[in-house]
Amino acid sequence: MVVFLNGQFLPREEARISPDDRGFLFGDGVYEVVRSFSGILFRAAAHWERLNKSLAAIGMESPPHRQVQDIAEALLEKNGLRGGEATVYVQVSRGVAPRRHSYPRPAVPPTVYAFAAPFAIPREEWKAGIRVIKVPDLRWGRCDIKATSLLPNVMASEQARGAGAHEAIFVRDGVVTEGSHSNFAGVRDGTLLTHPADEHILNGITRLVVLELSNRLSIPVRETAVSESDLPELDEAMLLGTTNDVMPVVRINDWTIGRGQPGPVTRRLQQAFRELVMQ
Ligand code: PDD
Repeated sequence: MVVFLNGQFLPREEARISPDDRGFLFGDGVYEVVRSFSGILFRAAAHWERLNKSLAAIGMESPPHRQVQDIAEALLEKNGLRGGEATVYVQVSRGVAPRRHSYPRPAVPPTVYAFAAPFAIPREEWKAGIRVIKVPDLRWGRCDIKATSLLPNVMASEQARGAGAHEAIFVRDGVVTEGSHSNFAGVRDGTLLTHPADEHILNGITRLVVLELSNRLSIPVRETAVSESDLPELDEAMLLGTTNDVMPVVRINDWTIGRGQPGPVTRRLQQAFRELVMQ
């Protein structure tokens, strides 16, 4: 596998980072994951835009979109991934400096790491739906920044795995915010409900695409969080994300959602999303 590290393409085994990298010591960095279909990076511009926003929020400079796009495309090419489905991961950390909490001054060069890997949505789950569990949202107040410091997300995901579920959904102040690595949406009486894009969630690119598709399909949308107590009343539920697509949720903890099968709104959105990415 050929990866990108600080201006160079090289075999992954040869990629080395310093133990003093702030990404390693503090989780002081941000990242993006972009999906690719037949060599086309899906909504790349929106991902690079969000990367810039995350960097700006942590006081770092942004690379030009063109540069990141070229790196991502070269990784697909060099790894023979232009033919199928893949993801490209891009991470920018604040770089290497003696361990002190505040930002190094003057700024040091960032560490930029990127790789591409084959990726496909698990077909059975996409068709039949998955089970998720609720966990308390123990994260910070800037979940809109796509930060590499993901310990609460990692712990929540592990809790889900331990409970035999596919994903954990976070509950903060009595409402569902999002999943450990996905956004959450519910359907009640035909209306799609999703947490507003504030600092308690990452404003997912998939979520934005689904809002666009809902508009096109005349599915009413309310950007309003689903309360924990309303979860059992949902007719449908789904996870949205680069590595989830539109993933039906048919069980939350031990309740069955709707009839325990993906519902009609979820199916329409899954179909429309597939058609869009395959264009
Ligand atoms: N995660 N919310 C969180 C906390 C996420 O980590 C992600 C994506 C999303 C969905 O965003 P998008 O549709 O832009 O992928 C929402 C990536 C895939 C990850 O951490 O691997």
